[in-house]
Amino acid sequence: MPERRVMTVGMVCVDIINYVVRFPDEDTDVGSNSPLEVPGGLGNRCLDQQWCRGGNASNSATVLSLLGANAEFFGSIPQGDLTSFFEEDFRRDRVHVDRCPRLAARTPTSCVIVSAASGTRTIVHSNSDLPELPADALRRLPLREYDWIHFEGRNIANVNKMVEYVRAEREKNPELKLTISVELEKANRPELDTLFSLGEVVFISKDVAMSKGFTDMESAVRGLKARTLPGSVLICPWGELGAAACLADGSVVTSEAHRPPSVVDTVGAGDTFIAACIWRLRRGDPVNRALRTACVVAGTKVGVKGFRPLPQLLKDSGLLHE
Ligand code: FRU
Repeated sequence: MPERRVMTVGMVCVDIINYVVRFPDEDTDVGSNSPLEVPGGLGNRCLDQQWCRGGNASNSATVLSLLGANAEFFGSIPQGDLTSFFEEDFRRDRVHVDRCPRLAARTPTSCVIVSAASGTRTIVHSNSDLPELPADALRRLPLREYDWIHFEGRNIANVNKMVEYVRAEREKNPELKLTISVELEKANRPELDTLFSLGEVVFISKDVAMSKGFTDMESAVRGLKARTLPGSVLICPWGELGAAACLADGSVVTSEAHRPPSVVDTVGAGDTFIAACIWRLRRGDPVNRALRTACVVAGTKVGVKGFRPLPQLLKDSGLLHE
């Protein structure tokens, strides 16, 4: 049997990433980047612009593949002007998409502003008519070919049903050795809370933790652990402070963050963290080691544009072969 696949379930879109000196003022259309005009420029002209494939699940699949995993993305792929862009980009990163539904729809896009001055990324997203995966989407897939399925926290009602199906199949077929993980990223969406009890590994963002009243990562994972399944692990990355996890026995482990020489591009840093965690947990590493690796990989990503420089940088630092 070929090497098992790790599958990420969620969205793919086009990210139009505008790298600017600083976040522009509202309702302005002025300025070059000339320091003669205003020191540092006004932020209305891009230092650089890139059109890339984005979406949490799509990004995590990319990073998993770059780290050497047999990765698959599963989500609706829009059929239209940009179909070949998606197909070629996935192919270039060796991410399988052969089982995705292809649907006639407008391409979902994110207009992203990455500010050099503040290191922030601001995302304005649009999806006009690309349907989410239906609840029965996984029924057509050969589950024995996977050992890990990760669900992005969206399309909640259907994700609940998909996870229910995978669990039921696992119970019926003990030879299915499949781990389920889920991500809760967007804050103030109460419907996301059902996801807490869906995965053996649950990732929550700093935003979600803060929206629930927590001000530090350790109390967040400790305080929210009771919402997860017995035996599961709850993981929370916390930007420049690192990451924490609450293990099945209630103990908490943490890792420091990894600082790149400079913050260049934070788009997809969280998706990278998740991918690197899964990469290490999947091969049986203990959670504290997986956290450390994930902080290094995510920190390394923040120092470069996009994901593709990662394998070389991680190889140079020795992490890829640790
Ligand atoms: C980054 C990202 C982008 C995408 C946006 C969707 O985490 O997945 O690639 O445009 O978030 O919310």
